[in-house]
Amino acid sequence: MPDFFNPFSGMVPDRKLTKEELIRVVRVDVAGELEAIHGYMAHADATDNELAKAVLIDIANEERVHVGELLRLLSILTGDEDDYYKKGTLEVDTLAGTLGAASAPAAKEESTIGSLKPLKED
Ligand SMILES: [Fe+2]
Repeated sequence: MPDFFNPFSGMVPDRKLTKEELIRVVRVDVAGELEAIHGYMAHADATDNELAKAVLIDIANEERVHVGELLRLLSILTGDEDDYYKKGTLEVDTLAGTLGAASAPAAKEESTIGSLKPLKED
């Protein structure tokens, strides 16, 4: 999303980033890619134009590749990033096991607003 309201947006500091600053920048870049994916997919969902939908989804998927690149870069820069990701993955798999769900995500299930279970009535 545009960040024009910030007068310092896009300005290059008069020195090179430290390693810690670079790590923070890459985290912000990851967030930007995720926001871009959200936007492109929302726009694709909002149109009936098949070409526009296909192009927007293709771009969104390219952004997903960028997320992977940036996460790999973070992994290299921090040295311990993957340990935290693995810990998070294990925590979700443990919860999924507790709930009886397969550890593999239900990627084949198409969840939509209409498929949400109704709230329990008291
Ligand atoms: Fe990107």
